[in-house]
Formats: sequence, structure tokens, C-alpha cells
Amino acid sequence: MSELFSPFTLKGVTLRNRIAVPPMCQYSAVDGVTGDWHLPHYTGLARGGAGLVIVEATGVSPEGRITPGCTGLWNDAQVPGMAAIASAIRAAGSVPGIQIGHAGRKASANKPWEGDDHIADNAPGGWPTISPSPLAFGGGLSKVPSEMTLEDIARVKADFVSAAIRARDAGFEWLELHFAHGYLAQSFFSVHANQRTDQYGGDALGRGRFLEETLAAVREVWPDHLPLTARFGVLEFDGRDEQTLEESIALVTRFKQAGLDFLNVSIGFSTLDSHVPWGPAFMAPIAQRVRSETGLPVATAWGMDQPADAEKAVASGQLDLVMVARAHLADPHFPFRAARALGVPKSSWVLPPQYAHWLQRYPGPQHGPTVD
Ligand SMILES: Cc1cc2nc3c(=O)[nH]c(=O)nc-3n(C[C@H](O)[C@H](O)[C@H](O)COP(=O)(O)O)c2cc1C
Repeated sequence: MSELFSPFTLKGVTLRNRIAVPPMCQYSAVDGVTGDWHLPHYTGLARGGAGLVIVEATGVSPEGRITPGCTGLWNDAQVPGMAAIASAIRAAGSVPGIQIGHAGRKASANKPWEGDDHIADNAPGGWPTISPSPLAFGGGLSKVPSEMTLEDIARVKADFVSAAIRARDAGFEWLELHFAHGYLAQSFFSVHANQRTDQYGGDALGRGRFLEETLAAVREVWPDHLPLTARFGVLEFDGRDEQTLEESIALVTRFKQAGLDFLNVSIGFSTLDSHVPWGPAFMAPIAQRVRSETGLPVATAWGMDQPADAEKAVASGQLDLVMVARAHLADPHFPFRAARALGVPKSSWVLPPQYAHWLQRYPGPQHGPTVD
């Protein structure tokens, strides 16, 4: 009996298995509106069999986008395209999720395949960036952001709320707040980006305040029966990891009190001076610690793409879900291949009937023998 292929229920939502596609930017929107690329892309991922498909980092405001090609939910014209995506994911048997965020000092960048670096403020697609403190990230992201005023902070929180309402109205059932990866929310928490001396800086309580307040404000509008989740970088691999991890776990405990239902455990990416110990499933023990100390269900990504590792992480209670990103780009039918690799009975394979009828009978070398 595979635990990876067992259902997972959170609030009023049940996932058909424990495999999730985490958000992956496609850099293919125009003015934040999804287009021809997005609908088949997300439909294909859902048809592949994952229990949850989370739509890419979607800007809560134009200047909150990572690149000019990123999706948005800051106006009503962006809702119909997102509604079609949510509907198609659901029709294919997955739960439709979406990540909303603000890129902070990492905003206004070129697409990864066009340089991944900052676009000048006065060049096409460029805009001035904001952050808790006027500190550049560094490297190719060298623009110095403006220090956010209290009015800026209030405005961005309100933008998160408006985007959450639009996500709800578009039919998404799983909301992920992007509190990770060196973008705006992570920058508030990070000592590498936040040198404020007001109530939004200083100790861990102050540095966590923007995140806590944003979460609480979104909870007011996000339906109680649907999971409200966040992706949060719990450490930076910058040499002060135990301290950061303890501060993160205390903050996540406050998130839980403010209504968070689930954490996608990730990395801070707030500094270039980090040494991430890349390897298979390397974040799983860290996620497990967050899970056991906060009592929240958790997931993590980063090298969870070997079926045996994924199965072990769920079966041993490290993770409630595994997030598999790039392996899904290589093969949207990753869950089918994982089921075959784990010897899951074919009655539990996650294929649409249009494909299952043929693949369950196909004994060819690429697919191995049929399994009863
Ligand atoms: C093309 C691409 C786009 C990504 N975009 C996002 C994003 O929008 N939001 C996010 O939190 N992470 C993003 N990520 C990170 C992935 O969600 C994931 O954490 C990472 O790829 C590691 O998982 P993997 O080892 O299974 O690929 C992106 C990754 C890729 C490859």
C-alpha cells in the first residue's frame, strides 16, 4: 500500500494523492493576463495525475511581478483566464491552487532565459522596486529599492487581500502566500534585507510582523473551508541556520494561530552568500522538524523527484505532500511513472480514462509489463 498514493484531506479539500506541482513561473503573460501558453500547460499537469497543481507566482500588483511576463491578479481582466485554468485543473481531477506574491527588490527582472537580471527603471518593462530597506540583492539584481513607507506597507497588504479575493472568485481552492525566495515578504523577515528600526524591523517579532499581518488580513477574505497556506524560507544556509530556523518556527507557530493551515517549507534565498547542501530530499528533515514543532501539515520541494524518496518521506511522517517541480516539466505524467516504479496496483494509477485504457494494457519496453 503506497502512502504517496493515498488521499490527503485538508479543510474541505481532498487531494487524490500526495504529489503536488509547486508554483513555476512561465513568464508568458501579457499585462498579467494568462494566454495561449497557460491553459494547456496547467491542464496537462493536472491530467498527469498530481493531487494538487499550484499556479505560478502571481503578482498582487504590477510592480510586484518578478518579470513583465509574470501573471497577475490585480485587476478584474485577469480573472477569466485564471478561472479557465482553475476549472480545467479541477476537471482533470486535481485541486487547483495558486500562489500570490510580491517580488520586492527582486522585481522588474528579465526572464531567466533573457538574463535573469534587473531591467533599468526607464527601459521597457522596467520599474522602480520597493523593499523593507534600501539594500540591493546583488549580482544581476543590482537595483537599489526604495525603503517602504508605512503607507506602502498598508497598500501591499491590501493588494494581497484583493488578489486573494480574485483567486477565490476565479475558483481556486488552495491559496499559497509567497513568503519565500527573497521576495518581499521573505525580505521583511530576513536580516540580509531588513534593517528597519520601526515596528516592521528589529527582532524576529518585528521582522515577522508584515507576514503575520498579511496572513491575518487574507484569512478574513479567504473561505474558512479552503486551505490557506504559505511558502516560507525557514533558513538561508548562511551560517546562522539554527537561529533562523528557531525564529522561523516561532513565526510559523504564530501563522498557525492567525489561521494558516499548511506550510510549504522552503529556502530564504535572501543572500548570495549561501551554501545550500543540494541533494536528494535534503529539505525533508527540515520540513519534518517544522511539522513536529508547529503541528502544521507540511510539504517541501527540492529534489523530491525520486519515487522511493517521495514514498519514504510521506510514509515516515516527514511530509504530508511532496512537491515535484522540474520533473513535471520533463514529464507531466510523473505520477504515473512514480506509481509504476513503486508497484502501485493499476487500479490506483492516476491516468485519465482516455489514456488509462491503453497504457494499462501496453506491455512495451518503455512502460514495462502490465501490473494487476
Ligand atoms: C521554471 C520554474 C519556475 C519556478 N517558479 C516558481 C514560482 O513561481 N514560485 C515558487 O515559489 N517557486 C518557483 N520555482 C521553484 C519550484 O517551485 C521548486 O521549488 C524548485 O524547482 C525545486 O523543486 P524541484 O527540485 O522538484 O524542481 C520555480 C522553478 C522552476 C524550475
